[in-house]
Amino acid sequence: MSVNSKTAQAAVYNDKVVRQFAIMTIVWGVVGMLVGVIIAAQLTWPELNLGISWLSYGRLRPLHTNAVIFAFGGSGLFATSYYVVQRTCQTRLISDKLAAFTFWGWTGVIVLAAVSLPLGYTQGKEYAELIWPIDLLIAVVWVSYAIVFFGTIGIRKVRHIYVANWFFGAFIIAVALLHIFNNIQLPTGLLHSYSVYAGVQDAMVQWWYGHNAVGFFLTAGFLGMMYYFIPKQAERPVYSYRLSIVHFWALIFTYMWAGPHHLHYTALPDWAQSIGMVFSLILLAPSWGGMINGIMTLSGAWHKLRDDPILRFLIVSLSFYGMSTFEGPMMSIKTVNALSHYTDWTVGHVHSGALGWVGLVTMGSMYYLIPRLFGQKKMYSVPAIELHFWVATIGIVLYIAAMWIAGVMQGLMWRSVNADGSLTYTFVESVKATFPFYVIRLLGGLLYLGGMLVMAWNVWKTASAGLKAGGVPEVRIPAVNPAHA
Ligand code: HEM
Ligand code: HEM
Repeated sequence: MSVNSKTAQAAVYNDKVVRQFAIMTIVWGVVGMLVGVIIAAQLTWPELNLGISWLSYGRLRPLHTNAVIFAFGGSGLFATSYYVVQRTCQTRLISDKLAAFTFWGWTGVIVLAAVSLPLGYTQGKEYAELIWPIDLLIAVVWVSYAIVFFGTIGIRKVRHIYVANWFFGAFIIAVALLHIFNNIQLPTGLLHSYSVYAGVQDAMVQWWYGHNAVGFFLTAGFLGMMYYFIPKQAERPVYSYRLSIVHFWALIFTYMWAGPHHLHYTALPDWAQSIGMVFSLILLAPSWGGMINGIMTLSGAWHKLRDDPILRFLIVSLSFYGMSTFEGPMMSIKTVNALSHYTDWTVGHVHSGALGWVGLVTMGSMYYLIPRLFGQKKMYSVPAIELHFWVATIGIVLYIAAMWIAGVMQGLMWRSVNADGSLTYTFVESVKATFPFYVIRLLGGLLYLGGMLVMAWNVWKTASAGLKAGGVPEVRIPAVNPAHA
């Protein structure tokens, strides 16, 4: 590349990698949710595994969780963090090549996951199922991501580091630590390995990882999205910048200690379980602080919610965030957990966070980004966004209400005893009683997936209109106000 074209390139943002990740967010969203619908159907009618081993529930379930969390959520986080870090630092990504490597590397990881999980290759650790050679690739991609992200912050033209970048940065660092420490394995061959940790230590490290995957992958990164896209879409400054800093430090400090709430009443020492419970209860405060900060950003502009479906996605996502971060601390109380653990209540909690918070905030952010990335003023169809919003919201409500009722019912049936001390219900009676709720959950999932398909169509139309009208835009980096440099 000539010196001239290099200088010209440095004057515009690198939106190519943002576009690639944004499109893959939609693609993986459809795939991951489709697999979710399939496993929801299999739980209702188990014969749907068709007797084929790689379509069995045990193999498709990790495919679903990996696809929605790491492929859909992960691609959304890459896209938005690369977009936001450039805009808020008013500079181009530090390295186009390394950024391109993160895209192809991450997409490669997902494809390898999509092949290895149905074939039954797994480490057997939830959310860390992928076998060690794929883990190594993830580590290399993640370190490259950190170099691109923090390198770009290092060459920023604006002195201040906007709070969204703090959240993205914490997410990147924490996920690197979690991934590396939870995946230290002794390989016995290309496809198999043993964890270096044994027994209860292994469980403890796994749930330190698992809970912080929630805290940093499914929360901190998406809070980064919230702090950029809500003020942008609402055209208002963040409600309280001071609160956002308190929110940041309180959240990242507290999350790290809450993992043992996944191991109540296990061989983990009692004191460790109690620490997990106490920190989970404390976690309510920073979580709600963040939610309030996001929602109150709309103060004085509430009317915008009436006619802006994108803003509605973003704000309703926060209501679900508030709901699941109230419910989580309650479920971490040992006596409540004695009822909820092993039941569908947990699955309801997971999906109020996953569909309501992670899903909706990602969709809202993508609706903001896609037209801008393809040189369009707005999405091809605004009524389709409206439709998506309602279909998705009704889907979530059906899903989580069904799981709550099923979960509490299961918990109560399992602990119910007769006067002579024998169990009132057999396990299979509780399975039978759950059937109608599984049908309702499936219906909710179908609606949610339907909404995602409407989005995919709308994105397709918007992108092709942009490409027809003159290709993808090159966005110039504005001159920096000397007061902020
Ligand atoms: C169409 C939408 C979806 C449907 C129908 C669906 C369905 C399911 C089903 C049936 C399970 C297994 C539950 C069980 O083990 O009893 C599950 C698990 C899970 N799903 Fe989804 N899902 C959907 C979307 C999502 C999304 C968007 C996310 C994340 C962003 C997500 C995250 C998870 C997680 C983390 C689990 C494991 C839960 C646990 O271990 O307790 N799902 N899903
Ligand atoms: C203050 C915040 C939160 C706390 C204290 C919390 C607490 C809990 C508790 C106590 C459980 C049940 C553990 C068990 O019985 O096995 C749980 C499960 C789970 N939560 Fe949360 N939660 C919070 C927020 C969230 C959010 C926002 C999400 C999603 C975006 C989420 C995703 C999950 C997942 C995926 C599981 C299931 C893990 C598994 O067993 O596979 N949580 N959480």
